[in-house]
Amino acid sequence: MTSGQIRESYIKFFEGRGHIKIEPAPLVLENDPTTLFTSAGMQPLIPYLKGEPHPKGKRLVDIQPSLRLQDIEEVGDASHTTFFEMLGNWSLGDYFKKEQLSWCWEFFTKELGLEAERLYVSVFEGTKEVPKDTESAEVWKSLGVPEERIFYYGVDKNWWSRSGTPEAMPEGEIGGPDSEVFFEFEDVKHDKKFGEECHPNCQCGRFMEIGNSVFIQYEKKEDGTLSELPQKNVDFGGGLERMAAVVNGYSDVFLTDVYEPAIKAIEKKTGVDYASSEENAIDFRVIADHL
Ligand code: ALA
Repeated sequence: MTSGQIRESYIKFFEGRGHIKIEPAPLVLENDPTTLFTSAGMQPLIPYLKGEPHPKGKRLVDIQPSLRLQDIEEVGDASHTTFFEMLGNWSLGDYFKKEQLSWCWEFFTKELGLEAERLYVSVFEGTKEVPKDTESAEVWKSLGVPEERIFYYGVDKNWWSRSGTPEAMPEGEIGGPDSEVFFEFEDVKHDKKFGEECHPNCQCGRFMEIGNSVFIQYEKKEDGTLSELPQKNVDFGGGLERMAAVVNGYSDVFLTDVYEPAIKAIEKKTGVDYASSEENAIDFRVIADHL
């Protein structure tokens, strides 16, 4: 499947489930002084996630070009990039965990045809303030994900807001627990340099995160606590480049059709082969990402 076919199939899948396609926002947002660049599909939707009615309704889908500089030090490995296209679908106070996780599973396993046995999921383990997300775990189980492929993590991994953990959220920021899907590459073996035990959030390259369903239902208050938003939202984001990699069996996003022309052009210009050494590959990936 090409990246173009993935884009098309994602939009069609969610349009078929009552979503209206919206136009992506520019990479530099107007009237948003909070960040320099659009870093997620949810960013232009914040007023609607907070309760303002969206003119196109409660179910939206789009493909948002995004730029994330917080990962810039990771660029050079096989999966991180600063610029990426985020496939996104939203429920603005409409459907919630059951529909979202079921559709997400259906899209990955049926539309993209990923082998269910290669997929792992994570859910929020809870804090004093926010309960453990047993509801998402139950939905995953009902979809056939066995207990041993469901992992629980805390605020560092399974909480999403633009500023990170609940503690780091400024007053007025919205966020919530999330549930991620990971693809396991059979041919990549765990490297103990990254820790004794391998697990979906391990950085050894055996797993690649391909989608995140955030349940945005909290807002940070002035006194530092979290309050419930007037509505429960779904904010899904999945990286197109990563989906294009896993669907074609590549553990390296730079081998996909998204980056291939840039990699080929750098090879031509430098006379160096991308695959000749990991050291060269790192330089190639940094140049291709920044281009
Ligand atoms: N907003 C979520 C993210 O960027 C989906 O990962």
